[in-house]
Amino acid sequence: MSPPLKSNDPCWCGSGRKYKRCHQASQERVLPGLVSPRRGVPPAIIGPDYAERGRPVKVDEPMVKSNDVIERMRRAGRVAADVLQTTAGAVKAGTTTDELDAICHEATVHHGAYPSPLNYHGYPKSLCTSVNEVICHGIPDSRPLSEGDIVNLDVTVYLDGVHGDTNATFGVGNIDDASQRLIVVTRESLDKGIEAVAPGRPISDVGRAIQRHAEAAGFGVVRDYCGHGIGEVFHSLPQIPHYYEPSARTVMEAGMTFTIEPMITLGTWRHVLWDDGWTAVTADGCRTAQFEHTILVTEKGADVLTRIG
Ligand code: MF3
Ligand code: CO
Ligand code: CO
Repeated sequence: MSPPLKSNDPCWCGSGRKYKRCHQASQERVLPGLVSPRRGVPPAIIGPDYAERGRPVKVDEPMVKSNDVIERMRRAGRVAADVLQTTAGAVKAGTTTDELDAICHEATVHHGAYPSPLNYHGYPKSLCTSVNEVICHGIPDSRPLSEGDIVNLDVTVYLDGVHGDTNATFGVGNIDDASQRLIVVTRESLDKGIEAVAPGRPISDVGRAIQRHAEAAGFGVVRDYCGHGIGEVFHSLPQIPHYYEPSARTVMEAGMTFTIEPMITLGTWRHVLWDDGWTAVTADGCRTAQFEHTILVTEKGADVLTRIG
């Protein structure tokens, strides 16, 4: 825990750089804790190509997927949704983010799947836990959640050769009105993005719908992290900006699979990276929320592959 900032104090952001204080009154900053040793995966579980050495070998694949890949992605998507729900069940004051990682890891392995984040470009854990001003890719550690925090849990599983990727943001006990509103608007922004999915439309329609909704509420839209093509490869084309990006001209086609995962902030959309090389925090320390689904483009619109059930 860091002491509340006094006015004119720079934000603590772990980068060594100074930023103007967040406009939210005396909010405590998230500080890095201790990261536990790497968890093992049973040898019977087949991991992705980066599981051992940390670097993906296969980095691209067709944007339009075969029926075989799509059917496998439906299963991976359902498992990811189930693991997210299980992990979310443990969100309460006093639970450490490392405990959430353990629950996610065990639930994933229980389904015979590999937790996709583990060793992806060297990422040390099976889950991303992003608390308060952490935008994304927070590393689970010894920090306990406290009453009033908000936390995003980002689950990705690798099952039968394909990935399913989903996340959601949860309040810890009672949260303030701004945080509650942020979570509601972010969830709605994802829904607006999904509604904009249809064959024949450009990818830029997705970000335009999201940005319109988030900015109407007075919130910021993170630009430096985007949705992504997904399938046998964790991150591939197309890139899905969550703001209006006119150069995102790729036309959606039935059979494409990608994520939509808007990160919405109470303040600036600019981020700063912690020294760990992963944790992205808002430059002004304001809170941020995110929701994510893995989507299949269909003849009619979108099929959400990461719903429960
Ligand atoms: N699940 C994240 C996403 O939505 C990616 C996490 S990569 C990791 O794209 F290495 F940070 F785990
Ligand atoms: Co994703
Ligand atoms: Co994700």
